[in-house]
Amino acid sequence: MSAQIIDGFAIAQKIRRQIALDVSALKKDGIHPCLAVILVGENPASVSYVSAKKKALAEAGMADKSVLLNADINEAELLSIIADLNRDTSVHGILVQLPLPSHIDEQKVIAAIAPEKDVDGFHPVNAGNLLIGQAGFVPCTPCGITVLLKEAGIPTDGANAVVVGRSNIVGKPLALLLARKDINATVTLCHTGTKDLASFTRNADILIAAAGRPGTISADMIKPGAAVIDVGVNRIPDNTKKSGFRLVGDVDFQAALDVAGRITPVPKGVGPMTIAMLLCNTLYAARGSFK
Ligand code: GUN
Repeated sequence: MSAQIIDGFAIAQKIRRQIALDVSALKKDGIHPCLAVILVGENPASVSYVSAKKKALAEAGMADKSVLLNADINEAELLSIIADLNRDTSVHGILVQLPLPSHIDEQKVIAAIAPEKDVDGFHPVNAGNLLIGQAGFVPCTPCGITVLLKEAGIPTDGANAVVVGRSNIVGKPLALLLARKDINATVTLCHTGTKDLASFTRNADILIAAAGRPGTISADMIKPGAAVIDVGVNRIPDNTKKSGFRLVGDVDFQAALDVAGRITPVPKGVGPMTIAMLLCNTLYAARGSFK
Protein backbone atom coordinates (compact mmCIF):
# COMPACT_ATOMS: atom_id res chain seq x y z
CA MET A 1 0.00 0.00 0.00
CA SER A 2 1.27 3.48 -0.76
CA ALA A 3 -0.25 6.55 0.82
CA GLN A 4 -1.78 9.27 -1.32
CA ILE A 5 0.25 12.46 -1.02
CA ILE A 6 -1.77 15.57 -0.15
CA ASP A 7 -0.65 18.43 -2.37
CA GLY A 8 -0.75 21.39 0.02
CA PHE A 9 0.95 23.56 -2.55
CA ALA A 10 -1.86 23.08 -5.11
CA ILE A 11 -4.60 23.68 -2.51
CA ALA A 12 -2.82 26.84 -1.34
CA GLN A 13 -2.44 28.10 -4.92
CA LYS A 14 -6.18 27.76 -5.49
CA ILE A 15 -6.89 29.81 -2.34
CA ARG A 16 -4.28 32.41 -3.29
CA ARG A 17 -5.88 32.92 -6.72
CA GLN A 18 -9.23 33.65 -5.04
CA ILE A 19 -7.58 36.03 -2.56
CA ALA A 20 -5.94 37.93 -5.44
CA LEU A 21 -9.40 38.45 -6.99
CA ASP A 22 -10.81 39.64 -3.64
CA VAL A 23 -7.87 42.02 -3.23
CA SER A 24 -8.48 43.62 -6.63
CA ALA A 25 -12.15 44.12 -5.71
CA LEU A 26 -11.16 45.74 -2.41
CA LYS A 27 -8.71 48.03 -4.18
CA LYS A 28 -11.56 49.28 -6.39
CA ASP A 29 -13.20 50.41 -3.13
CA GLY A 30 -10.03 52.37 -2.37
CA ILE A 31 -8.58 49.94 0.20
CA HIS A 32 -5.06 48.66 -0.49
CA PRO A 33 -4.32 45.81 1.96
CA CYS A 34 -0.97 46.25 3.66
CA LEU A 35 0.88 44.00 6.11
CA ALA A 36 3.80 45.21 8.22
CA VAL A 37 6.34 42.40 8.57
CA ILE A 38 8.85 42.81 11.38
CA LEU A 39 12.02 40.72 11.36
CA VAL A 40 14.48 41.01 14.23
CA GLY A 41 17.94 39.64 13.49
CA GLU A 42 18.98 37.19 10.80
CA ASN A 43 17.84 33.75 11.91
CA PRO A 44 18.16 31.90 8.55
CA ALA A 45 14.82 30.08 8.83
CA SER A 46 13.04 33.34 9.77
CA VAL A 47 14.70 35.21 6.87
CA SER A 48 13.46 32.54 4.49
CA TYR A 49 9.89 32.51 5.95
CA VAL A 50 9.67 36.30 5.79
CA SER A 51 10.82 36.40 2.19
CA ALA A 52 8.23 33.74 1.24
CA LYS A 53 5.51 35.77 3.02
CA LYS A 54 6.50 38.98 1.24
CA LYS A 55 6.54 37.27 -2.16
CA ALA A 56 3.06 35.85 -1.50
CA LEU A 57 1.74 39.29 -0.46
CA ALA A 58 3.07 40.82 -3.67
CA GLU A 59 1.57 38.06 -5.81
CA ALA A 60 -1.82 38.63 -4.16
CA GLY A 61 -1.59 42.34 -4.96
CA MET A 62 -1.07 43.35 -1.32
CA ALA A 63 1.53 45.77 -0.03
CA ASP A 64 4.08 44.98 2.64
CA LYS A 65 5.88 47.33 4.91
CA SER A 66 9.14 45.59 5.85
CA VAL A 67 10.74 46.46 9.15
CA LEU A 68 14.18 44.85 9.41
CA LEU A 69 15.79 45.32 12.81
CA ASN A 70 19.17 44.45 14.27
CA ALA A 71 19.22 41.49 16.66
CA ASP A 72 20.43 43.82 19.45
CA ILE A 73 17.42 46.18 19.30
CA ASN A 74 16.02 46.62 22.78
CA GLU A 75 12.50 45.68 23.80
CA ALA A 76 11.32 49.26 24.37
CA GLU A 77 12.37 50.30 20.84
CA LEU A 78 10.52 47.34 19.33
CA LEU A 79 7.40 48.12 21.38
CA SER A 80 7.53 51.72 20.19
CA ILE A 81 7.75 50.63 16.52
CA ILE A 82 4.69 48.43 17.08
CA ALA A 83 2.82 51.34 18.72
CA ASP A 84 3.51 53.45 15.61
CA LEU A 85 2.26 50.68 13.31
CA ASN A 86 -0.88 50.30 15.48
CA ARG A 87 -1.63 53.99 14.82
CA ASP A 88 -0.78 53.88 11.09
CA THR A 89 -4.13 53.59 9.28
CA SER A 90 -2.43 52.51 6.03
CA VAL A 91 -1.21 49.34 7.80
CA HIS A 92 -3.94 46.71 8.25
CA GLY A 93 -1.92 43.86 9.73
CA ILE A 94 1.24 43.49 11.83
CA LEU A 95 3.35 40.34 11.93
CA VAL A 96 6.39 39.93 14.17
CA GLN A 97 8.34 36.91 12.95
CA LEU A 98 9.12 34.51 15.83
CA PRO A 99 11.31 33.51 17.55
CA LEU A 100 12.67 36.78 18.90
CA PRO A 101 16.15 37.12 20.44
CA SER A 102 16.16 35.90 24.03
CA HIS A 103 16.58 39.39 25.59
CA ILE A 104 13.11 40.35 24.29
CA ASP A 105 9.92 39.17 26.01
CA GLU A 106 7.93 37.57 23.19
CA GLN A 107 4.60 37.65 25.03
CA LYS A 108 4.99 41.36 25.80
CA VAL A 109 5.63 42.07 22.12
CA ILE A 110 2.65 39.98 20.97
CA ALA A 111 0.39 41.71 23.50
CA ALA A 112 1.51 45.13 22.17
CA ILE A 113 0.00 44.46 18.73
CA ALA A 114 -3.54 45.83 18.31
CA PRO A 115 -5.80 42.71 18.32
CA GLU A 116 -7.55 43.89 15.11
CA LYS A 117 -4.15 43.97 13.34
CA ASP A 118 -2.92 40.68 14.83
CA VAL A 119 -3.05 38.56 11.64
CA ASP A 120 -1.02 35.82 13.37
CA GLY A 121 -3.80 35.35 15.93
CA PHE A 122 -1.27 35.20 18.79
CA HIS A 123 -2.59 38.13 20.88
CA PRO A 124 -4.29 37.04 24.13
CA VAL A 125 -7.59 38.55 22.91
CA ASN A 126 -7.54 36.45 19.73
CA ALA A 127 -6.30 33.36 21.59
CA GLY A 128 -9.14 33.87 24.10
CA ASN A 129 -11.72 34.33 21.34
CA LEU A 130 -10.62 31.05 19.78
CA LEU A 131 -10.98 29.32 23.16
CA ILE A 132 -14.55 30.53 23.69
CA GLY A 133 -15.65 30.19 20.05
CA GLN A 134 -15.92 33.90 19.25
CA ALA A 135 -14.80 35.56 16.00
CA GLY A 136 -11.20 36.67 15.81
CA PHE A 137 -7.93 35.95 14.05
CA VAL A 138 -6.99 32.28 14.11
CA PRO A 139 -3.27 31.32 13.91
CA CYS A 140 -2.30 30.59 10.30
CA THR A 141 -0.78 27.10 10.55
CA PRO A 142 -3.63 25.46 12.52
CA CYS A 143 -6.20 27.26 10.36
CA GLY A 144 -4.38 26.05 7.23
CA ILE A 145 -4.43 22.47 8.51
CA THR A 146 -8.21 22.53 9.01
CA VAL A 147 -8.67 23.92 5.48
CA LEU A 148 -6.29 21.27 4.13
CA LEU A 149 -8.30 18.47 5.82
CA LYS A 150 -11.52 19.87 4.34
CA GLU A 151 -10.14 20.41 0.84
CA ALA A 152 -8.53 16.95 0.81
CA GLY A 153 -11.88 15.42 1.81
CA ILE A 154 -10.58 13.85 5.02
CA PRO A 155 -13.54 13.01 7.28
CA THR A 156 -13.26 14.67 10.70
CA ASP A 157 -16.69 14.13 12.27
CA GLY A 158 -16.11 11.76 15.20
CA ALA A 159 -12.55 11.01 14.03
CA ASN A 160 -9.80 10.44 16.55
CA ALA A 161 -7.35 13.30 16.01
CA VAL A 162 -4.03 13.13 17.81
CA VAL A 163 -1.92 16.30 17.90
CA VAL A 164 1.73 15.85 18.89
CA GLY A 165 3.14 19.14 20.19
CA ARG A 166 1.65 21.79 22.49
CA SER A 167 3.07 25.05 21.13
CA ASN A 168 1.06 28.28 21.20
CA ILE A 169 1.60 28.61 17.43
CA VAL A 170 0.37 25.16 16.35
CA GLY A 171 -0.53 22.42 18.86
CA LYS A 172 -2.74 24.26 21.35
CA PRO A 173 -4.81 26.32 18.85
CA LEU A 174 -5.09 23.30 16.53
CA ALA A 175 -6.50 21.14 19.33
CA LEU A 176 -9.19 23.80 19.95
CA LEU A 177 -10.08 24.07 16.25
CA LEU A 178 -10.36 20.31 15.75
CA ALA A 179 -12.69 20.05 18.75
CA ARG A 180 -15.02 22.74 17.36
CA LYS A 181 -18.49 21.45 16.42
CA ASP A 182 -18.02 22.11 12.70
CA ILE A 183 -14.97 19.79 12.67
CA ASN A 184 -16.12 17.61 15.56
CA ALA A 185 -13.04 15.43 16.08
CA THR A 186 -12.17 13.76 19.38
CA VAL A 187 -8.85 15.40 20.20
CA THR A 188 -5.87 14.08 22.12
CA LEU A 189 -3.02 16.52 22.73
CA CYS A 190 0.31 14.73 23.23
CA HIS A 191 3.59 16.37 24.18
CA THR A 192 7.07 15.73 25.52
CA GLY A 193 5.60 14.58 28.83
CA THR A 194 3.37 11.93 27.18
CA LYS A 195 4.17 8.39 28.32
CA ASP A 196 4.09 5.78 25.53
CA LEU A 197 3.37 8.22 22.69
CA ALA A 198 2.87 5.36 20.21
CA SER A 199 -0.12 4.02 22.17
CA PHE A 200 -1.90 7.31 21.41
CA THR A 201 -0.71 7.87 17.83
CA ARG A 202 -1.66 4.30 16.79
CA ASN A 203 -5.25 5.17 17.64
CA ALA A 204 -5.30 8.28 15.43
CA ASP A 205 -7.47 8.50 12.32
CA ILE A 206 -5.85 11.91 11.87
CA LEU A 207 -2.31 12.24 13.18
CA ILE A 208 -0.77 15.69 13.30
CA ALA A 209 2.95 15.91 14.01
CA ALA A 210 3.95 19.34 15.30
CA ALA A 211 6.80 18.48 17.65
CA GLY A 212 9.60 20.22 15.73
CA ARG A 213 11.84 17.15 15.89
CA PRO A 214 12.73 14.86 12.98
CA GLY A 215 11.88 11.21 13.50
CA THR A 216 9.17 11.92 16.09
CA ILE A 217 6.73 9.70 14.19
CA SER A 218 8.01 6.40 12.83
CA ALA A 219 5.93 4.11 10.60
CA ASP A 220 5.04 1.73 13.45
CA MET A 221 3.36 4.63 15.30
CA ILE A 222 0.82 5.16 12.50
CA LYS A 223 -2.57 3.44 12.26
CA PRO A 224 -2.90 1.80 8.81
CA GLY A 225 -4.89 4.09 6.51
CA ALA A 226 -4.61 7.17 8.77
CA ALA A 227 -4.30 10.73 7.47
CA VAL A 228 -0.89 12.07 8.55
CA ILE A 229 -0.28 15.80 8.63
CA ASP A 230 3.37 16.73 9.09
CA VAL A 231 3.91 20.26 10.42
CA GLY A 232 7.64 19.85 11.09
CA VAL A 233 10.14 21.96 9.15
CA ASN A 234 13.59 20.74 10.21
CA ARG A 235 16.88 21.59 8.51
CA ILE A 236 19.17 18.57 8.11
CA PRO A 237 22.77 19.10 6.92
CA ASP A 238 23.12 17.80 3.34
CA ASN A 239 26.30 18.38 1.34
CA THR A 240 24.62 17.38 -1.92
CA LYS A 241 22.45 20.54 -1.72
CA LYS A 242 23.65 24.00 -2.74
CA SER A 243 22.18 25.42 0.49
CA GLY A 244 24.02 22.77 2.55
CA PHE A 245 20.77 21.46 4.07
CA ARG A 246 17.49 19.77 3.22
CA LEU A 247 14.11 20.09 4.88
CA VAL A 248 12.47 17.15 6.62
CA GLY A 249 9.31 16.94 8.68
CA ASP A 250 8.65 15.25 12.02
CA VAL A 251 7.46 12.06 10.32
CA ASP A 252 9.67 9.35 8.83
CA PHE A 253 8.10 10.08 5.43
CA GLN A 254 9.43 7.22 3.27
CA ALA A 255 8.47 4.52 5.77
CA ALA A 256 5.14 6.21 6.56
CA LEU A 257 4.12 5.99 2.88
CA ASP A 258 3.63 2.22 3.36
CA VAL A 259 1.24 2.62 6.30
CA ALA A 260 -0.68 5.91 6.06
CA GLY A 261 -3.70 6.43 3.82
CA ARG A 262 -2.95 10.09 3.12
CA ILE A 263 0.12 12.12 4.03
CA THR A 264 1.43 15.66 3.59
CA PRO A 265 4.98 16.06 2.26
CA VAL A 266 7.64 18.46 3.59
CA PRO A 267 8.05 20.84 1.86
CA LYS A 268 4.87 21.62 -0.11
CA GLY A 269 2.46 20.29 2.49
CA VAL A 270 1.40 22.44 5.45
CA GLY A 271 3.87 25.31 4.79
CA PRO A 272 2.09 26.75 1.73
CA MET A 273 -1.23 26.60 3.62
CA THR A 274 0.23 28.76 6.43
CA ILE A 275 1.08 31.44 3.89
CA ALA A 276 -2.33 31.22 2.21
CA MET A 277 -4.01 31.73 5.60
CA LEU A 278 -1.78 34.72 6.34
CA LEU A 279 -3.05 36.32 3.13
CA CYS A 280 -6.61 35.46 4.15
CA ASN A 281 -6.17 37.04 7.58
CA THR A 282 -4.57 40.14 6.05
CA LEU A 283 -7.54 40.47 3.71
CA TYR A 284 -9.93 40.19 6.71
CA ALA A 285 -7.91 42.82 8.55
CA ALA A 286 -8.05 45.18 5.56
CA ARG A 287 -11.83 44.71 5.36
CA GLY A 288 -12.01 45.59 9.06
CA SER A 289 -13.76 42.28 9.75
CA PHE A 290 -12.52 41.95 13.33
CA LYS A 291 -12.74 45.58 14.55
N1 GUN B 1 7.45 31.45 13.51
C1 GUN B 1 7.07 30.20 13.15
N2 GUN B 1 5.79 30.22 12.70
C2 GUN B 1 5.36 31.49 12.76
C3 GUN B 1 4.13 32.12 12.42
O1 GUN B 1 3.16 31.50 11.97
N3 GUN B 1 4.10 33.47 12.62
C4 GUN B 1 5.15 34.16 13.12
N4 GUN B 1 5.00 35.47 13.29
N5 GUN B 1 6.30 33.60 13.45
C5 GUN B 1 6.40 32.27 13.27
